[in-house]
Amino acid sequence: MKITVIGAGYVGLVSSACFAELGHEVITVDNDMQTVEQLIGGRTPIHEELLPELLDRHRGRSLTFSSDIAAAFRFCDVAFICVGTPPSPNGDADLSYVDNVARTLAKSLDRHKLIVEKSTVPVGTCEAVRRTMMLNNARAEYFSIASNPEFLREGTAVRDFLFPDRILIGVPDERSREMLIEIYRPILDGSYYERRDAVGGRAPHSPKLIVSDVKSAELIKHASNAFLALKISFINAVSTICEGVGADVRQVAEGIGADSRIGPQFLNPGIGYGGSCFPKDVLAFRSVAQSVGYDFKLLTEVMAINEEQKRRFVGKVREALWTLRGKKVAVLGLAFKGGTDDVRDSPAIDIIYRLKAEGVEICAFDPAAMPRAEALLPSGFITFAPDLYAACDGADAVLVLTEWPEFAAADLSRIRALLRLPILLDGKNLFAPEAVHAAGLAYFCMGAGGHADKPIRNVSLALKADSLRPALPVVRTHDDVRSVA
Ligand code: UDX
Repeated sequence: MKITVIGAGYVGLVSSACFAELGHEVITVDNDMQTVEQLIGGRTPIHEELLPELLDRHRGRSLTFSSDIAAAFRFCDVAFICVGTPPSPNGDADLSYVDNVARTLAKSLDRHKLIVEKSTVPVGTCEAVRRTMMLNNARAEYFSIASNPEFLREGTAVRDFLFPDRILIGVPDERSREMLIEIYRPILDGSYYERRDAVGGRAPHSPKLIVSDVKSAELIKHASNAFLALKISFINAVSTICEGVGADVRQVAEGIGADSRIGPQFLNPGIGYGGSCFPKDVLAFRSVAQSVGYDFKLLTEVMAINEEQKRRFVGKVREALWTLRGKKVAVLGLAFKGGTDDVRDSPAIDIIYRLKAEGVEICAFDPAAMPRAEALLPSGFITFAPDLYAACDGADAVLVLTEWPEFAAADLSRIRALLRLPILLDGKNLFAPEAVHAAGLAYFCMGAGGHADKPIRNVSLALKADSLRPALPVVRTHDDVRSVA
């Protein structure tokens, strides 16, 4: 099938590489010349596992890049719209990029095309695209508009695309249904997994195909992300209760998640969800509800709990260090989650701003996101370290704010030896408390009434740990923590 992907952002690029991987001929267009030149030149503008390999495999053969949207549209049978839908100030998704694309496509329509909306959009967008095209003189018999939402998580997007739980197509007619099924056939009939060079080896997989009407597909996407965000906020609220009653949220989450009706995923408490999807989609879904006269208060609460987590974490830092002004902390993690360099709506960045506002000095390390964080933060706002140990050197505490596997595998004794005070604040519950304690560190995490360290216990741990480090001032009491600091 000849496919044009409009938008070489995160969704567009992963989809392009994967469509080529499934055997289609793909042109990816973007109006940002710099991105197109990077892609033609062999560079991958985003950090995403397996994406560079797939781009290298297909670039210049079944996958090409261009900035000429009209020519690329004339080439294809099916065009996927993958442009951004950022939030506008009132919370609605800003659909101006989609609108621009619709007007351009209307002018370049020379025979029947299937136009597929893949960006996350409010319900009714496909209908609006159809109307815009008609207003711009497109002939109704020359095009159909379908919805095919993606469920790609950053960091595992290529695998999510090629090994999906489900493929969702919202179609207006039989012809569109057949075309979309044809595009995904290698995944649906399993032939892709038989290929020698298939990503992930010969792993059998059988995703569910869901065929719905167009509006239902649009709604499924928003509702799915809102539900996942709700699950995270739910466990974060439970984690607050755990701290109050002395229970351990990890054990509670395991117990809840073992119920197959609930499931174990997305029950990891922490500093809240971030990224380019959940914050925007929850807000946009609430706006959709408002537009039909429904006040979706549940989502308002989901957002409030999410904000509260960041505030609570900063409270923990304050509790552990007593006063914040003039303290120096190591921040491990800037990306909104592990496996990506994306810092959009990252809880780590939010926490950095809150700590800076309280006079904390910050030295940060992230395996992938430092260039993007540096571009985002004011110049000289924080310093960046070449590795996680350098970030910890001489710090009063280490804060873990992103779930990178590299951090989970860190040498905690080495970290302990580098820190000025033996304090680890884990915003992602990455570590086993026993391992942290064994390394001589006081441990503050989320929702662990049982084994989180109260400041006073933290000091006794610091005392124990000091036998490992006789050159440092001895920390015996909470007051000593302050005077050492
Ligand atoms: C999400 C959806 O999962 C994906 O289906 C959709 O298409 C795009 O949006 P993504 O934003 O890449 O994907 O990341 P995801 O893995 O869903 O995590 C989102 C945020 O929630 C991250 O900040 C992550 O750290 C946080 N999170 C996730 C938790 O705090 N706890 C969890 O249990 C899971």
